[in-house]
Amino acid sequence: MEKIIKSYADQSFHKKISLIIKKLSKNKEDIRNEVKKIIDFKLYHRLLDLGCGYGWFLEALPEGFDFIMGVDYNDENESAFLSLAQKKAKKALFKKLFLPSKIDMPSCYFDMIVSAYSLYFFPDMLQEIKRLLDPKGVFIVITHSSHMLEEGERFFKFDNLRKLIESFSAENGYNILKQYFDHVEYYDYPNELIFHEKDSHALEQYIDFKSAFIEQDVDPETVKVKLLKELKEKKFLSFNKNDKIFIARP
Ligand SMILES: C[S@@+](CC[C@H](N)C(=O)[O-])C[C@H]1O[C@@H](n2cnc3c(N)ncnc32)[C@H](O)[C@@H]1O
Repeated sequence: MEKIIKSYADQSFHKKISLIIKKLSKNKEDIRNEVKKIIDFKLYHRLLDLGCGYGWFLEALPEGFDFIMGVDYNDENESAFLSLAQKKAKKALFKKLFLPSKIDMPSCYFDMIVSAYSLYFFPDMLQEIKRLLDPKGVFIVITHSSHMLEEGERFFKFDNLRKLIESFSAENGYNILKQYFDHVEYYDYPNELIFHEKDSHALEQYIDFKSAFIEQDVDPETVKVKLLKELKEKKFLSFNKNDKIFIARP
């Protein structure tokens, strides 16, 4: 787990991967813009971003918050997160915590809580999220589909990774959230990542990016060799990247 968390710390690599994902995605709309179509961010003032990373979600948000707090176990994200959050809010705070854990803030303090591609690391945080959320507030979750592994699972068994993703996925997220929130909506974000022959270097980098995730199951170099061979033979490879946005309210 330590290694997976570390793998998000290299911001320039993370940004490079974001560009690869953007370029090779079939869905050309940024998922954060989809969230902005659903939520009027101007109505919210105190934001808590859980598993915030360097602040990818914040990048897309308007300015005008009173307070933004980011929580992440990896404090290498702190300065990048704070410099972004300070542009968006009057006051910003980063807290290094290994979630799930109690967050030392009053009940109902936040009117917006976000967890983007991170809730599967700490699904046992939901009771605390519920405590921290204002009764008129909103909890936004972006998560992966458990089918994202299927292409790789034609060749390899990703048991550990499957267990992690299925802790909170596009498929089971609704039922999990309904145990804590009265109102839960969801929005599909259909997408595919398509690598063509000319994208073999991008495929290698993408597998490097996922290596901390997959190495408990399979040696990432073996995955790389196999998938590059497939790409050469088939001329293209496509990966399921169907994500889901959940909007939960007390
Ligand atoms: C896939 S990244 C997503 C980062 C950011 N939300 C984004 O969408 O780019 C997951 C983040 O959760 C953090 N994380 C993973 N497990 C954690 C835990 N148990 N407690 C706190 N943070 C954790 C990682 O350090 C990483 O920054």
